[in-house]
Amino acid sequence: MDVLLGAQWGDEGKGKVVDVIAPRYEVIARFQGGPNAGHTLLFEGHKHVLHTIPSGVFREGTVNLVGNGVVVDPVIFLKEVKSLEAAGVDVRAVLMISRRAHLILPTHRALDAASEADKGKQKIGSTLKGIGPTYMDKTGRNGLRVGDLERADLKDRYAALVRKHERLLSLYDQPGAAKESEEEWLDAVQQLRAFRTVDCEHYLDQALRAGKRVLAEGAQGTLLDIDFGTYPFVTSSSTISAGACTGLGVAPNRIGSVTGIFKAYCTRVGSGPFPTELEDATGEVIRKAGSEFGSTTGRPRRCGWLDLPALRYAVMVNGITELAMMKADVLNGMGTIQLCTHYRIGGATVDRMPYDITSGVEPVYMDMPGWSSASSDGDLPVELQRYIDTIENAVGVPITLVSLGPDRTETILRHAERVL
Ligand code: GDP
Ligand code: IMO
Ligand code: MG
Repeated sequence: MDVLLGAQWGDEGKGKVVDVIAPRYEVIARFQGGPNAGHTLLFEGHKHVLHTIPSGVFREGTVNLVGNGVVVDPVIFLKEVKSLEAAGVDVRAVLMISRRAHLILPTHRALDAASEADKGKQKIGSTLKGIGPTYMDKTGRNGLRVGDLERADLKDRYAALVRKHERLLSLYDQPGAAKESEEEWLDAVQQLRAFRTVDCEHYLDQALRAGKRVLAEGAQGTLLDIDFGTYPFVTSSSTISAGACTGLGVAPNRIGSVTGIFKAYCTRVGSGPFPTELEDATGEVIRKAGSEFGSTTGRPRRCGWLDLPALRYAVMVNGITELAMMKADVLNGMGTIQLCTHYRIGGATVDRMPYDITSGVEPVYMDMPGWSSASSDGDLPVELQRYIDTIENAVGVPITLVSLGPDRTETILRHAERVL
């Protein structure tokens, strides 16, 4: 099983790359996250944004699996299914959901909003999709799972969990905050019963034994990981390669390549530290050129230069074997590009990610000449080639894919001897 994941703060372009390489796989499996994700695919003039459904869904012949590590909001899921069906995709035929995946309830969403409001200025800037409270109930051993839809006492289990949530919502002075969403949710749950569910650990075991190729698709990114991200400004799941094992029930020794997706620069949406952030006109230029507005929430993304200590960290904790560099076209015509090679912390120059980057971390930059124009039609400009070489040397991993536009076709594969 190969793994593909975000090496930065999410929105690196994972959806595009999964769509590009999906024809090489029989199964595409999402291993964590939920509708906080927004994975964008663009081909034949149409743009599709996927939240819960894996990004192989448009490629004929692939099975798309929502793994046990994913949290599913039935309402959002059904909306996604309907929009795919409207686009001519027979989703029901190619999609399976793990019985062990947890369900997001309307009260989880209400708790997410109440918790964020309570934090005030310290808020995480969550997507308000109920992700944190749902994973809290999973680890707190209170959650409802997709497999519970088969139980006769589902309604009672639901009512018991809602009662607990109502007690918490009362503490936030928000009792009944989810009441009006309840009916729609219960209706969506009924409809969810019609989808194929599976014990994904057994399904994948058999698929791998039969020699099928499986790609595990991550959501969010390494720096949003619950353990290794910029805590507490993170999401609530394991976004790293180890999360593909727990999120699908596949053992570590079955992992083949690990592809890290990163942008030629950095972005972050929501709160939290971002050492190379550009809060100036240059940041604005990147935001505009890269259309850096959230695929899920529409919020403007914060933009900054590429951070090599952070990328090296992502390579280390994930065991990244190859990298895909996205959105190099966005830096077309930038003049000078700055590349953060080190951090200066308390007078010392360090090249590794420290425990805390909240304050006192100053990026050390190397100036690099920019390129006027790069596209997938011609050879890469020498300046971009040099930028790529510098990154490869600094992190010790080959960049096997360079993306120069949002469309499926605007992609260059490098290092032909490698798998990707
Ligand atoms: P994901 O969450 O990692 O799948 O990424 P998103 O879909 O949230 O954000 C990536 C955005 O960049 C989407 O709007 C893509 O269409 C777009 N995109 C992906 N690759 C490229 C690229 O190489 N160049 C440009 N200009 N846009 C890209
Ligand atoms: P994809 O898969 C970028 C961010 C939120 C917030 C933090 C916690 O499209 O890359 P949460 O709702 O998970 O509790 O929010 O994580 N975040 C993302 N940022 N891309 C994503 O997903 C994200 N999913 C969550 O903005 O800062
Ligand atoms: Mg996204």
